[in-house]
Amino acid sequence: MWCDRMVYAGVEAGPGKRRFSYLDLLASIGSAKHIGGKGATETLINEAGIRPGSLVLDVGCGMGKTSCMLAKERGCHVIGLDIMPRMVRESRERARRLGVDDKAAFLRCDARSLPFKPETFDAVIVESVTIFVEEVEKALAEYRRVVKNGGAVCDNEVCVTRDAMGKMVDRLDDLKSIFTAFCSMTSKGILTFEDWKELYEKLFGNVRASHHLLDMSVEMETRREDGLKSIAAGIKSMWLYMTNPEARKIIDEGRKMMSFQGEFGYGLFVSHKRG
Ligand SMILES: C[S@@+](CC[C@H](N)C(=O)[O-])C[C@H]1O[C@@H](n2cnc3c(N)ncnc32)[C@H](O)[C@@H]1O
Repeated sequence: MWCDRMVYAGVEAGPGKRRFSYLDLLASIGSAKHIGGKGATETLINEAGIRPGSLVLDVGCGMGKTSCMLAKERGCHVIGLDIMPRMVRESRERARRLGVDDKAAFLRCDARSLPFKPETFDAVIVESVTIFVEEVEKALAEYRRVVKNGGAVCDNEVCVTRDAMGKMVDRLDDLKSIFTAFCSMTSKGILTFEDWKELYEKLFGNVRASHHLLDMSVEMETRREDGLKSIAAGIKSMWLYMTNPEARKIIDEGRKMMSFQGEFGYGLFVSHKRG
């Protein structure tokens, strides 16, 4: 399952060549999630002040989980977007299955160039997406452009704190190879929790930020919630491991991530647009 535009991190392997990226892996196995599970999503929703009737943009909606939850459980109207065609198809299918396709619509586009007028949405939710975008600042500026005055942009990004990074100097090469396999690294290198916080602060003049460590029991709970889809994704991922060397490399880097438990985690960032 290939993306037909070479616009996202990890795919730009040079003219005429395509490199199998982490996003291709996710689309191939039909899996997408963020660290922190439903609890992290609820924190963002509550801090952003999303309420029944809100019009919400879900950037990088993956399999449409959050979009459909917002429509079904929170009474919101949602537009979910994703760069990968399969994610858009899966999201539409989920909305149909859950009977919320009149409230949740999905389209394929790039977070760096949103096809909406300024001040369209009451809130923008972004869960584990911007880290995959080459031009992080361009994407953040787009989120800000399309949210209404008084509305919020809320984001969950995988990151470590500067303090933790300082303690891992001897393992930085490992960390860099994980980040290179999974997502973009900016010219500034790996973005820490504090870097994300500063980016939001600079753009919005305010940010509420908190850092959380990876908790495997929460991640296992998310897998349980996904049920058969999660099992199917595991089987497809094993198949790719055996048949696709590029996928194998990404999966091996993923295993290395386990050695960073205790430092690795995610940041939650909520900024309100004022004036
Ligand atoms: C780790 S998944 C998270 C999915 C979903 N937000 C969730 O939490 O379940 C990252 C998603 O971001 C999408 N994505 C990555 N880069 C993107 C871009 N430039 N524009 C839009 N979507 C993008 C991927 O296709 C993938 O579905």
